[in-house]
Amino acid sequence: MIKINENYLKLASSYLFAEIGRRVSEFTKQNPDKEIIRLGIGDVTRPLVPACIEAFQKAVDEMGQASGFKGYGPDQGYPFLRDAIAKNDFQDRGANVNADEIFISDGAKCDTANFQELFSQEITVAVPDPVYPVYVDTNVMAGRTGAAVDGRYEGLIYLDGNTANGFVQNPPETHVDLIYLCFPNNPTGATATKEQLKAWVDYARKEKALILFDAAYEAFISDPSIPHSIYEIEGARDVAVEFRSFSKTAGFTGTRCAFTVVPKECNVYDTNGKAHSLHAIWSRRHSTKFNGVSYPVQRAAEAAYSSNGKAQIRESIDYYMANAKLIKEKMTSLGYSCTGGVNAPYIWIECKSDSWKFFDMLLNKAGVVCTPGAGFGRCGEGFIRISAFNSIENVKKALERITHCLNQD
Ligand code: MLT
Repeated sequence: MIKINENYLKLASSYLFAEIGRRVSEFTKQNPDKEIIRLGIGDVTRPLVPACIEAFQKAVDEMGQASGFKGYGPDQGYPFLRDAIAKNDFQDRGANVNADEIFISDGAKCDTANFQELFSQEITVAVPDPVYPVYVDTNVMAGRTGAAVDGRYEGLIYLDGNTANGFVQNPPETHVDLIYLCFPNNPTGATATKEQLKAWVDYARKEKALILFDAAYEAFISDPSIPHSIYEIEGARDVAVEFRSFSKTAGFTGTRCAFTVVPKECNVYDTNGKAHSLHAIWSRRHSTKFNGVSYPVQRAAEAAYSSNGKAQIRESIDYYMANAKLIKEKMTSLGYSCTGGVNAPYIWIECKSDSWKFFDMLLNKAGVVCTPGAGFGRCGEGFIRISAFNSIENVKKALERITHCLNQD
């Protein structure tokens, strides 16, 4: 008899964005003539920029010629892309990251999901609440938790985010081994200062813990005092892994390219306390379970760092951030308190009611899709997230409809 991994039975029946998709399809089926505006999942809507498209097409042409054809690429990714990342994303910002510490992959979702595989079942895991559900669900799948009780899994340490701490949690008083942090934050759009990140790095060093730092939204930071990388913090190379993505930055959600930085100084310990290189172990896993991102996609990603690519991508990010400003201003003027939307493409709005009910109300009455805060954890209840990823015309239309619908209520 084929037996199930029973940890899967502990999970909520569907992944947050799958449940939203289900409710939206149901609504569309019932109301085929109603136009829906999607400000739910953070999926980009603008086309790939010309610099990336040119490089993409050129690489496709190379693949069609005997002289330019490429089979399997290098395990960690092509040096041309890893060099461009190390220089532009880190060294130029004063962060010490070398190209050989970068692993190219097809998504930060997969990397943040997979990384926990390297650790023992017994470790203590801390997650912020609200949180990107992938960090939690993958630890549940791996068997590091008990059952869900009142929306929280037994065995995980939840770090409460709220308006009082601005959704930036301090390190806990107790010991934990693995910590997930995401800044600029998904879902709240909050950012952490250098001092706040330093407190986490110091904690991890003291506890021999590891920080998994998700920086998928760093390109949306406009405040020059906010760090883009954990490696801008002294001591972080010993205790932090960083995840980045071209998805939101360069519009690669459908193209797929991301990377993970594992510094050579990071260690993980066996039961005798002997240190092992985390870089070597992730490298072993990556080469065993992953066969790389296609050559044309890596060339397209490299072009994001050309001077044209940088300028074109900046324009796209500014476009989305203008949407974010409109959303934040409108929701504030309607009397809702908002976090995010300044250094992040998400606006986290206190709706002061059941978040799934608020979601259903906006869907049914305004035809607008948002994300209910409860989907990100218990502390997300009473909030919704609105994403700035859409055309300005759709954002304006959605805000008019939301205003009308809330004024009726
Ligand atoms: C989100 O909307 O939270 C993100 O798009 C999900 C993701 O990046 O996987």
